[in-house]
Amino acid sequence: MIVTIDGPAGAGKSSAARRLARRLGFSFLDTGAMYRAVALAGRRQGVDWENPPELSALAAGLRLELTDDRIFMNGEDVTEAIRTLEITTLTQFAADNEAVRRRLIDQQRKFAEGRNIVTEGRDQATVVFPHAECKIFLTASEEERARRRFQDLLARGEEVDLEEVLKKQRVRDQRDVERQFGGLAKAADSIEMVTDGLSPEQVVDRLEEIVRAHQH
Ligand code: DC
Repeated sequence: MIVTIDGPAGAGKSSAARRLARRLGFSFLDTGAMYRAVALAGRRQGVDWENPPELSALAAGLRLELTDDRIFMNGEDVTEAIRTLEITTLTQFAADNEAVRRRLIDQQRKFAEGRNIVTEGRDQATVVFPHAECKIFLTASEEERARRRFQDLLARGEEVDLEEVLKKQRVRDQRDVERQFGGLAKAADSIEMVTDGLSPEQVVDRLEEIVRAHQH
């Protein structure tokens, strides 16, 4: 069974999807981490961000391995390194790159072969797994999402300003929605869930109910 969870940044997708997968005994796939890893590789190699083929050539040589809670790039654990504010911003270049997307989409489909998964991203229900048995669109208000991201970054020891996080989030939201290929969109057959005011526990409980109702 494939469960897709799409939605904007900061809606609480990652932690909810990971916990949901654990409860169901499914594998978890964090597709945002894959785009982030490509951006990290680009940053380290000093690619010219204005020249997309450079980044896609680099991505072609990357070996990404994902477990339920870690991501390895050519064998190196980059789970923390991909979460900085700088990489978060640069990840747009990976996400906007069609050749990179095609490559990552292939890898995502391979990952799903022969197993039950909860997969999380922007285009999982619309592009990558249009035949998924259960599709969820998880969202929250702009302010709530920015507050969560802010607290996340603080906890990671980054110096951040809430207004700044909100501003950057607006830019990312817009780019996510306007992206030609794989842009953020709710699939017609997705169930929308707004997480404002809900505890992480409540979100997972509700998600589990939705999935169980789709299992047969
Ligand atoms: O969910 P996240 O914040 O880790 O995602 C990082 C970026 O990658 C985000 O700006 C959108 C992009 N992304 C994407 O384009 N498609 C996906 N399936 C997942 C993430």
